[in-house]
Amino acid sequence: MDDLRQQYLDAMGIAVWVRRHPPAKTERSPGAAATAATLSDEVPAASEEPVLDWTTLQARVASCTKCELHRTRTQTVFGTGDRRADWMVVGEAPGADEDRQGQPFVGRAGQLLNAMLRAIGLSRERVYIANILKCRPPRNRDPRPEEVTCCEDYLHEQVALIKPRLILAVGRIAAHNLLKTSTPLNRMRGRLYRYSDTGIPVVVTYHPAYLLRSPKEKSKAWQDLRFAIRNGLEGE
Ligand code: URA
Repeated sequence: MDDLRQQYLDAMGIAVWVRRHPPAKTERSPGAAATAATLSDEVPAASEEPVLDWTTLQARVASCTKCELHRTRTQTVFGTGDRRADWMVVGEAPGADEDRQGQPFVGRAGQLLNAMLRAIGLSRERVYIANILKCRPPRNRDPRPEEVTCCEDYLHEQVALIKPRLILAVGRIAAHNLLKTSTPLNRMRGRLYRYSDTGIPVVVTYHPAYLLRSPKEKSKAWQDLRFAIRNGLEGE
């Protein structure tokens, strides 16, 4: 067990955890969507096809001026990771570190997210990480509905290009905006949702920034990750 994974498990008070089936990355072949469909009876292969290719999408985001956030950003934060990933992690919006570096989850919350992924045998390079918003809201305020509306096609395109087998929504803002609900996050945990009309399973957990403030909740996040594994990695 490597140090980071051990650290995360220690922090959650979990002595030992052994995966029965390590999550080896499967080759994404044309048959992969059919494999994903066997995850649960009702998961169809992602039905929505992307409209844009990666290069065009990335260029559109980089030059986006659809909402006022373009005036205050240093740069857009598109997303990072494996474009053929089985798992996609969706957060809220870039913070100061992300705005400076152009990468999602590179600050303290990002370090914890990395440790959480390591605890389940994944790395940030093996998942795809993106946010609801591609630009930093000033002073890290919550995204406004009109900003989410302006940005949501970009995320939708990313999902359509990747066709992940599972989306992990971290935090209330990601969960509410991905799933178009205002159900309290606590009540969303441990339930399997679907992203839009793609049928892609969505699992909700706490935002790592919240876990940094409330470390006692890490054990619940651990439960959520295990729930996500059961719904997003089995059947490989
Ligand atoms: N919090 C988020 O939700 N996303 C980031 O990229 C960084 C912090």
